[in-house]
Amino acid sequence: MDVQQTSRFTVTRSGKAVPADQRAVLLADPGFGKLFTDHMVTIRYTEGQGWHSHAIGPREPFQLDPACAVLHYAQEIFEGMKAYRLEDGSIAMFRPEENARRFAESAERMAMPVLPEELFLEAVELLVKTDADWIPGGEGSLYLRPFMFASETFLGVRPANEYIFCVIASPAGAYFKGGKKAVTLWVSEHFTRAARGGTGAAKCGGNYAASLVAQKEAISHGCDQVVFLDAAENKWVEELGGMNVFFVMDDGSIVTPPLSGTILPGITRNSIISLARAKGHEVREEPYSFAQWRADAASGKLREAFACGTAAVVTAIGTVKSVNGDFTIGNGDGGIVTEALRADLTGIQRGTVADPANWVRKL
Ligand code: PLP
Ligand code: COI
Repeated sequence: MDVQQTSRFTVTRSGKAVPADQRAVLLADPGFGKLFTDHMVTIRYTEGQGWHSHAIGPREPFQLDPACAVLHYAQEIFEGMKAYRLEDGSIAMFRPEENARRFAESAERMAMPVLPEELFLEAVELLVKTDADWIPGGEGSLYLRPFMFASETFLGVRPANEYIFCVIASPAGAYFKGGKKAVTLWVSEHFTRAARGGTGAAKCGGNYAASLVAQKEAISHGCDQVVFLDAAENKWVEELGGMNVFFVMDDGSIVTPPLSGTILPGITRNSIISLARAKGHEVREEPYSFAQWRADAASGKLREAFACGTAAVVTAIGTVKSVNGDFTIGNGDGGIVTEALRADLTGIQRGTVADPANWVRKL
């Protein structure tokens, strides 16, 4: 193994990197979340010592004591972001500073140490540069998963004194199988995702663990994703298991649930709001009830609806199912506003559309 020191990171090149011809075969159809690159970044934190042992090395399993705190109390947070190969061969990331900031906010909510934002960015960029050959061409991207967990061996219930921050990378194609044009959603009327004062606005693993029974229900009804309603009244649309949601009305205005503290402040959501306003749409961040959604779909007032997030990008919502019956939005196959916003967003991300707000960070 070849070991070097760059800035504060120790770099160990993997001796078992996947050969180029095999990598090319794997990259032809990466799917989502099942293929991984050769390296990973790790940084450790110890109370009293701070962040230390900055390293990039071969991707390998962790050795954890059975009493490792995260295995018991789920003190864990993560991020999701992408690196793109542009037409000129260069590499770009989309608003990575926002992921760094949200990671810090999630850490605060979960009583974890805050990784300095510039260190988060340095770690992510180091992995992207090291594993740059894994960035798929065409519509694909390199999905990056920075995460941090409580690594202390201790069963007392209090914030841990030791943590591991890690970044792994996964070449990705479409999140929904076959790159579906429009997805079908299941509205969960029993299970909620987050309540006021809870962790809904943090990107912590526990939120996803709590969502899985509802996602399982969605799958059993032939749906792609679950939609959660608010925990207090079981009335207001909040978000999907892993995406924010938007509604496009017949007058061109667009509605999205407000950041009430119980939904994830999506970076795609924030970008779509800006892009839609720049296109002349009125965008209202206001509560929208499930009953109104059904009524507006039936009357034709609601023309389109879409989900958005790093993994899902912008995906039209075709049909909505629930215990009280199903309904379809528009012709069930998306619409022109959704398509135009998707084209704007992906064009900026891939450097083919002007980027007036400087969202793209070239590596
Ligand atoms: N909501 C949830 C629950 C998510 O998991 C995600 C994905 O990260 C989003 C929304 C969208 O967030 P972003 O656009 O920052 O990826
Ligand atoms: C992301 O979009 O990055 C997420 O974390 C959501 C998940 C559905 C993969």
